[in-house]
Amino acid sequence: MGDVGRFYDDLAPLYHLVYEDWEASVVRQGGALASLIAERWGAGARVVLDGSLGIGTQALGLLGRGFQVIASDLSHGAVQRARREAMARGLRLPAVVADFRALAARAECADVVLIADNALPHLQTEADIMTALRECLRCTRPGGGCLITLRDYGIPPPAGTVERRPYGERSWKGRRYDVRQVWTWHGARYDLAFEIAPLDGDAPERATVLTTSYLAIAVAQVVTLMRQAGFDDVERIDGRFFQPIVAGTRPREP
Ligand SMILES: C[S@@+](CC[C@H](N)C(=O)[O-])C[C@H]1O[C@@H](n2cnc3c(N)ncnc32)[C@H](O)[C@@H]1O
Repeated sequence: MGDVGRFYDDLAPLYHLVYEDWEASVVRQGGALASLIAERWGAGARVVLDGSLGIGTQALGLLGRGFQVIASDLSHGAVQRARREAMARGLRLPAVVADFRALAARAECADVVLIADNALPHLQTEADIMTALRECLRCTRPGGGCLITLRDYGIPPPAGTVERRPYGERSWKGRRYDVRQVWTWHGARYDLAFEIAPLDGDAPERATVLTTSYLAIAVAQVVTLMRQAGFDDVERIDGRFFQPIVAGTRPREP
């Protein structure tokens, strides 16, 4: 897992370039999650544990809507940037470094546990994903819930296939960059290179290339694993977020 933390440490200062307009995405994603939480767990569900905080794309949006957010992430660099972003907005965001297979949070502390934007598939085995889902269950109060958002992977292409996925042109600190992902497939797993190439400038910089890897787990399989982890009413939700969401509710004690 060390390399995943390092990947996001290196990406933290640039992470907003993933989005055409990160600030607008913070607002939009916060709004989408807030309405889903209210619908499924009621207006009283106001405490969210964000277990894959990153630079805070969802957490800042939820804080802006009056939620209380406690947060963690594997990447120290991402946690530091999220703290700075919260402070700059006058928002309170307690955030620590932790692996979501061992969340640094009390049992039943949250109305909702959130693992957003394809963080779970960084785990390389279903056993590890099950460990993370059981941790989410442990931290969810009875009657509260869990939201996992992830990419909708199709059937993996043949091993060795290389796919280029452009984000397009982005501006940062007065320079223009071409930002893209390159995926190299190895069965159900793939290596991802995140490439940021300068487009202009008098003294051309070299492209920044950061690499990590994923398990292309199907959304339906995450639904199955969430049920096995002990969540009820588990379902896939489409059309409410930029990725499919898997939602489940922790059963109330009998
Ligand atoms: C694509 S980023 C999304 C971050 C954040 N949700 C956002 O949208 O700004 C995925 C995040 O998952 C975190 N992550 C990956 N594996 C993790 C693990 N085992 N435990 C905790 N965080 C993890 C990474 O450090 C990264 O910040």
